[in-house]
Amino acid sequence: MLHTVDSIGINARSGGQQHQRDLRLILCGSAGSGKNTLTALLSCESRKLFEGQLAMLDASVKKKDARHAAPAPQAEGWPAVDEQADVARGLFSADAAVILIDAGKGVLALNRHHGRLIASLGIRQVVLAINKMDLADYSERAFQRIADEYHGFARQIGLAHFVAIPLSALHGDNIAAPGNHMPWYHGSTLTDCLETMESGIPREEVIAADGTPASVADQFESTIAWMHDAPLLPGRSYSLRTGSQTVAATVTDIKYQLSLDSDERLAATKLEKNAIGVCNISVNRPLTFKPYNENRDMGSFILLDRASNRIVGIGLLHFALRRAQNIHMQHVDVNKAARAMSKAQQPCVLWFTGLSGSGKSTIANLVEKRLHAMGCHTYLLDGDNVRHGLNKDLGFTEVDRVENIRRVAEVSKLMVDAGLIVLAAFISPFRSERRLARELLEEGEFVEIFVDVPLSVAEQRDPKGLYRKARRGDLKNFTGIDSPYEAPQTPEIHIDTASMSPEQAAELVVASVLSRMD
Ligand code: ADX
Repeated sequence: MLHTVDSIGINARSGGQQHQRDLRLILCGSAGSGKNTLTALLSCESRKLFEGQLAMLDASVKKKDARHAAPAPQAEGWPAVDEQADVARGLFSADAAVILIDAGKGVLALNRHHGRLIASLGIRQVVLAINKMDLADYSERAFQRIADEYHGFARQIGLAHFVAIPLSALHGDNIAAPGNHMPWYHGSTLTDCLETMESGIPREEVIAADGTPASVADQFESTIAWMHDAPLLPGRSYSLRTGSQTVAATVTDIKYQLSLDSDERLAATKLEKNAIGVCNISVNRPLTFKPYNENRDMGSFILLDRASNRIVGIGLLHFALRRAQNIHMQHVDVNKAARAMSKAQQPCVLWFTGLSGSGKSTIANLVEKRLHAMGCHTYLLDGDNVRHGLNKDLGFTEVDRVENIRRVAEVSKLMVDAGLIVLAAFISPFRSERRLARELLEEGEFVEIFVDVPLSVAEQRDPKGLYRKARRGDLKNFTGIDSPYEAPQTPEIHIDTASMSPEQAAELVVASVLSRMD
């Protein structure tokens, strides 16, 4: 009944050879719920996606001969990004979904998450495949309990309709034929059910007539489903891809997160893996788009981590935010070049990064003293000081550190525009935000200085007694102890504090500034 075909999505061909049509299907299930066995039985080519939770299948369904399907080839490891992008796009164009539940485990949080996702995507043809019935003694009561529980949840989240089928993929029950173990079940088999499903337009309120012109905007409200272990953090820069357009995007505000169990809206400062949130996003170049409920392709996007290029989330565009529409860049006659010229210097940012106690502030202070003595126009932004004013509302959670550095990066850019040599001394533990600071500036204006010290040495110095507090458990989220530090891989200047005094380090930095001015 099924054989492998060459396109993404399940192509369920029903109605005999004359009336074949394709059905694109998402298969969702937790690890070990039987996705691979089922896929093999359906003789589909499965691709692992989003750490194995969601699969898009390449297959075609024909009515006869379901049990002779050959095992499917399985994707090895993590698929290439283009392949992932294909599969993610498949999610937006799927006609139907199978939510796979392990009867031995019952309804898991992840099964509810998948229901949410499917409801958000507007998919209305849903099969609740309650698999591994062999582990539940093929019990009708076990089946009914799971189906009822899911039903209650589905109603709350607006997943109007699903068909529950008890399966044993291992023994083939109710896949293509009923089998002998569940005589109490009189409904359709999985393949019969798939064959009755319609392909194209059966989505709730989705895909209206496509006569409206596309709009262009750079800020949107959107729904984002987050798929990555590291949480989505507002202010962090991700790549956003829609159709052939790729832009840099940041979430400017998480308006709320959807509860997994009800229609409730929850407050959130970040989105953890499997969370779905309604967020405002801002992109660095205007996008041509349509709302998702008018056009699936132009209204959907994927988010990628900028360093690894892995897909970390998917999203639906609701509407453009017109906040910036009436704000234009104002031309000014006295520009960066004019201001730099009057100061006879090349403005730049000297960005010191390293653990607390590495010596960033000490070295930056020495560098500024020397530059100042030479007549340079400088300004030193120091973590502890900025946190007393501009950033006094921020603490040391990941989210707050991202925002801390984002603001400092924007301020540094303004100061460079003013023609200054800016010294920024911040732990700035995340590569992603240091990259953001670099990208805000022009080529060559950002000089990353890694003040490198082994944790044990910084801890021994402990000038403010903070490491001791952190070790005692009196200070949470302390960098190097219970909060990470991502060392620069290719800093412009690497200061090894073990082999260099602060004076020597300052000398090195000043020499580098002077060489840039030649
Ligand atoms: S950053 O991580 O957001 O870049 P920043 O450089 O602004 O940090 O501030 C670091 C300074 O705050 C440290 O030098 C230390 O004095 C102080 N501090 C207080 N709590 C913490 C903490 N949990 N982690 C790191 N530094 C802390």
